[in-house]
Amino acid sequence: RDLAKKRRLPLGAAAPVFCLHDEADGGKYTSTLAREFDMVELENELKPPAVWTGPHEYRFSDVDYVLGEPGKKGWAQQHKMKLRGHVLVYASDNGYTLPQWLRSSEKDLTKEQASGLLHDYILALAGRYRGKVAMWDVANEAIDDRPNNNPFNLRDSLWFRKLGPEFLVLAFKWAHEADPKAQLYYNEYGIEGGGPKAKHILELAKWLKDQGAPITGLGLQYHIDCRTKIEPGDGHYGLIEEIRKLRLSYMITELDVAVPAKPLPASDPNRGLVANDPMDLDRQAHVYASVFRMALSSKNCRGVQLWGFTDRHSWIPGFSRGRNGAALPFDGDYNPKPAYSAIATEL
Ligand code: XIL
Repeated sequence: RDLAKKRRLPLGAAAPVFCLHDEADGGKYTSTLAREFDMVELENELKPPAVWTGPHEYRFSDVDYVLGEPGKKGWAQQHKMKLRGHVLVYASDNGYTLPQWLRSSEKDLTKEQASGLLHDYILALAGRYRGKVAMWDVANEAIDDRPNNNPFNLRDSLWFRKLGPEFLVLAFKWAHEADPKAQLYYNEYGIEGGGPKAKHILELAKWLKDQGAPITGLGLQYHIDCRTKIEPGDGHYGLIEEIRKLRLSYMITELDVAVPAKPLPASDPNRGLVANDPMDLDRQAHVYASVFRMALSSKNCRGVQLWGFTDRHSWIPGFSRGRNGAALPFDGDYNPKPAYSAIATEL
């Protein structure tokens, strides 16, 4: 935290709200997070399924704990941490991204009703925390992995079906209306290093700007692994240069560097916490260093955020069904790994 501050680089970690209570892991979670980072993002509790309980009905209790009710302070302000808001529109249709009541009411919704609901949602949420959120992911993961015939290869989501690609322009305009000082991002995975999806994100960003959407920049997730190579002149640096040419900023938003995990049964509490090859932890340290080097070398980077910080609470083991893990700079007992010193050296 101190080193990053000297470099003026906002440095964050995603955290589930239950870990932001002082009793979590005997106090180690909150004390480590507040010591090492100056920015936090809620891992799931600001996503539409968590907040948007029904038409014009919202559940703010978890977010209030972190940001405070209107006029009050929450955990983040008490620890002098910026908040990265994730995410206003998660542009796909599953239980993690879209509330069930909305999924099941799609056939009865007119275009006007859909747009009215989204407008109210963004105003209610981003408006409630106006001035307390440093930057919002306005839209997340709207681009499909496989080629389709939609503009910018957008996913076939409820918002796309009802409103067309315009839903993205509207979401940015409404987020700005709700909280004019917040930076606003379009966030995506699988674009690191270039490729067809990276091409689409650049085309989309240019179009958003041309449409007058108040976009600050692109969020590059960076869920990568210990074999990833990042060097000046390659596709990683190339994408950042293309973003700069569009006069946009970027943030690394969900950095983790997975390694193959020791195969352990699902019931083993150490599943996903132990690298199968200890040498991979050194490879991982190099990869973390290379990401920070890139971020610090570019003028348009507005911060780096990790997707968690301790292997104890990382999404990677669950997501990979135990095949990968140990993806973060602190081990499951909150001890710094080689990646930690590698990051500190870059800073
Ligand atoms: C993940 C969370 O970490 C998990 O706890 C949850 O089960 C699924 O979502 N890209 C994103 C994040 O933008 O919201 C995802 O978070 C990880 C991938």
